[in-house]
Amino acid sequence: ANPGSNAATKGWQKVGTVAQLDKTGQLLVENSPIGAVLVVGTSKTAKNLIAVNPTCTHQGCTIDWKAKESKFVCPCHGAKFARDGKAQDGPAKKPLKTYQAKIEGSSVLVQA
Ligand code: FES
Repeated sequence: ANPGSNAATKGWQKVGTVAQLDKTGQLLVENSPIGAVLVVGTSKTAKNLIAVNPTCTHQGCTIDWKAKESKFVCPCHGAKFARDGKAQDGPAKKPLKTYQAKIEGSSVLVQA
């Protein structure tokens, strides 16, 4: 949507393996090629993978995925975000940045 910016980081980037993701149903990578990313899901529900930048839009803590509530919660001041990154509750007003994610072979890929 913004050609010319960050050309080097465009496209699909490998952020981890399916084995890592399937272990806990989430994969947090602090230093992926596109920066911090949190992928939620498993290979069984590969069509519904979620990927966000886990940096809270309030003051930058790393948010957690709460599978039971199906939302992201910030441990610092309790901001809540929906699966699609939308700010729902608490002090954060801006949405989390979201990415496309997919599984290819044994790799988890995220699109910048
Ligand atoms: Fe996340 Fe304040 S940093 S709620």
